[in-house]
Amino acid sequence: MTIATDPASQAAAHSAGPTRAVRLLGEDDWDGWRDAARRLLAAGIDPDAIIWTVGGKADDLFAIENELPPQPRVPPRVPRSFLPLAQSAILHSDPERFALLNRLLVKVSRYPDLMSDRADPLLRRIDLLAKAVRRDIHKMHAFVRFRELDNGDGSQRFVAWFEPDHHIVRATSGFFVRRFAQMQWSILTPELCIHWDGEALTESPGAERPDAPADDAFEQAWKTYYGAIFNPARLKIKAMLKEMPRKYWKNLPEADLIAPLVASAQARESSMVEQVIPSGNRARTLEALAEEAQGCRRCPLWKGTSGCVFGEGPGDAAMMIVGEQPGDEEDRGGRPFIGPAGQVLDRALSEAGIDRREVYLTNAVKHFKYVMRGKRRLHQKPDAAEIDMCRWWLDQEASLIRPRSTVMLGATAVRGITGKTGAVGKMRETALPLQHGSGTVSWHPSYVLRLPDREAADRAYDQLVQDLRLAAERTG
Ligand code: URA
Repeated sequence: MTIATDPASQAAAHSAGPTRAVRLLGEDDWDGWRDAARRLLAAGIDPDAIIWTVGGKADDLFAIENELPPQPRVPPRVPRSFLPLAQSAILHSDPERFALLNRLLVKVSRYPDLMSDRADPLLRRIDLLAKAVRRDIHKMHAFVRFRELDNGDGSQRFVAWFEPDHHIVRATSGFFVRRFAQMQWSILTPELCIHWDGEALTESPGAERPDAPADDAFEQAWKTYYGAIFNPARLKIKAMLKEMPRKYWKNLPEADLIAPLVASAQARESSMVEQVIPSGNRARTLEALAEEAQGCRRCPLWKGTSGCVFGEGPGDAAMMIVGEQPGDEEDRGGRPFIGPAGQVLDRALSEAGIDRREVYLTNAVKHFKYVMRGKRRLHQKPDAAEIDMCRWWLDQEASLIRPRSTVMLGATAVRGITGKTGAVGKMRETALPLQHGSGTVSWHPSYVLRLPDREAADRAYDQLVQDLRLAAERTG
């Protein structure tokens, strides 16, 4: 970031001195803006005397570059709420945003209470910018759709095209890295492209839509899934358009289905509630999902296993129980909870008065993770990245089943369902609000089995039964 003084403007002599240009490195150069704004504030330079520019755009206009005013020894004191607001608003595409923020900074450094004055026009305007940016980020998280490309060496790269309204690509990169840590992917946008190779994030200049693939083999599966979770009884066209504005449709495989699904939903208006189509479709789609998951290579855990152990149970189950990952027996048998932990769970379920056949049972991670000790395969805890990768499947199971009550057995299940970490002992008994129904956290049956102290094991088992009962009540 540099500052230049415009000699022509010096003649015009603004009351606060000559007009200056501050040149930032990029449209989202928060550090550059903050550094300059602090210096300008400390030097008492009138915000109206500053022209903010980005990159080389000011080269022709301003020939003389001056030293920046010195960095103040003590950074200005501003209310805490200024920072997140400014960090969002600066990503807006409005070219005036740097100047507006500079003005707000000067104002709140003098009148900190202004940050809570919702009637202040400057604050309101900046607030609207920040809101628009947050909404754009939310839409990018929700509507980026990767298409699979074969690298030609047996590995895959996933490529998505997206057109954000604001300068949010770098700001969203962390989300995609966390969510798709084990994949190689690229997100192409007109302004900037980001690429993740499994270890490092790199950038390249903006691209054009034809640079990204328009479809792939996965497209049909995605459409089947969307068609199945589409619930005509819940159709609210206005709300749908608000949540999924038309401009995003061109990147969404499922968009092709919207018009026919809406049309058929409207035509079947009165009878649709009784129709079993959603649950029939759910069962069929669960089957298709389970089949597709057999080919899952999203993380390396599939190597050395007999296959993916997908969830089992009715597609319209009111209760879903999520474990950690299949064990040795589950891997051999291809079904969840059929080994020693499964026996504990079965006993606890029947004591709680719950019929296993009515529950959808699944795991946060769908492949058995282990190390070899001699001839034995010893269970290894899945790590955060593996759980996060496998959420791809768990999310789809949950959206299809829409359980009213979900039991999370152990911390891995909690992370799989909520994305959060926490101590099971602390989370028990408090119902967690989930996207679908409520969540109950309890001890994993293997934990009960592993407790060396008999009394402690009995106590944990009793609590497991108690939690299952509570979860059954929460289906009501
Ligand atoms: N432990 C789990 O978490 N899930 C199973 O399926 C078996 C053991």
